[in-house]
Amino acid sequence: MEQFFVFVGLLACLLCLLKCVRLSRYLLLSFWKVLPGSFLRSMGQWAVITGAGDGIGKAYAFELAKHGLNVVLISRTLEKLQAIAEEIEGTTESRVKIVQADFTKEDIYDHIKEKLKGLEIGILVNNVGMLPSLLPSRFLNTPGEIQSLIHCNITSVVKMTQLVLKHMESSAAFAPLPYRRKGLILNISSGAALCPWPLYALYSASKAFVCTFSKALHVEYRAKGIIIQVLTPYAVSTPMTKHLNTNMVTKTADEFVKESLKYVTIGDETCGCLAHEILAMLLNLIPSRIFYSDTFQEFFLTGYSDYLKRNTSNR
Ligand SMILES: NC(=O)c1ccc[n+]([C@@H]2O[C@H](COP(=O)([O-])OP(=O)(O)OC[C@H]3O[C@@H](n4cnc5c(N)ncnc54)[C@H](OP(=O)(O)O)[C@@H]3O)[C@@H](O)[C@H]2O)c1
Repeated sequence: MEQFFVFVGLLACLLCLLKCVRLSRYLLLSFWKVLPGSFLRSMGQWAVITGAGDGIGKAYAFELAKHGLNVVLISRTLEKLQAIAEEIEGTTESRVKIVQADFTKEDIYDHIKEKLKGLEIGILVNNVGMLPSLLPSRFLNTPGEIQSLIHCNITSVVKMTQLVLKHMESSAAFAPLPYRRKGLILNISSGAALCPWPLYALYSASKAFVCTFSKALHVEYRAKGIIIQVLTPYAVSTPMTKHLNTNMVTKTADEFVKESLKYVTIGDETCGCLAHEILAMLLNLIPSRIFYSDTFQEFFLTGYSDYLKRNTSNR
């Protein structure tokens, strides 16, 4: 019996140690800037960002342009894309291409492929996504068209990856020495994908697909020098979250993106910022019997809805 408790104690210490090692890697990458400033630019000349017209995608577009990459912005609203392109070209040395496309549709990829032809794409950010309802709601009460969500959250990631990865892989064969054989694909999933998340069932499941797909692809392509990383953030203040008030946990899109780009070499999955990484660890401590209990879910349905109503705005 005594040996059993010693074993359990040692196991718990080992788990804590592993978590500390993981957190210290975040601190190292964040504060000591282990990644060279030219790392992102060394991936290739162009970065492609889906859903780049607002929120997190727009922040990636600006940040990658600041790192010296030319950017292709793909999104729905042409006027927003034109304004962002003008601002990026006016404030950085980077070139910008814009592509208007609606990712809820299936027939957009030939057009996108045509627009990307001939570009040396080093980075793809699969960012576009939709959340049917910010307020928690049961599946049958969730608004929106199911097929549109699947196209936007799942098909977009698969099809854009297929288009760009093919190019990243094959361009190595034609590139002059030293072989380029590099590329970075960032797939934006969600903290709601880290476990089945009731009251956001469809969104959570669609984002879980993104995690599984990314992590499997990462193993397939890492030997070719291509990094595929999935990001699982919690709250970021954007139009999707109705500009949720920011605090220690709820980041602005700019803060989130700046920090997440420091962690592109940390592994195949990251929450993208230290605060969300800690939140994920804390949520993980809640026993699933409690998390999935009717009482907890009822509390979440009313309590979280109230919190959101009090802390969001309709800008
Ligand atoms: N915000 C968060 O708290 C949070 C947390 C976890 C994960 N995420 C994920 O992060 C990603 C970005 O989220 P966000 O909060 O930045 O979203 P957002 O504020 O809604 O902005 C999304 C951008 O994507 C565009 N877009 C939306 N649907 C589109 C479609 N069908 N076709 C083409 N473009 C479309 C929007 O275009 P318009 O400009 O035309 O509206 C907008 O420019 C999403 O995948 C989301 O699931 C967000």
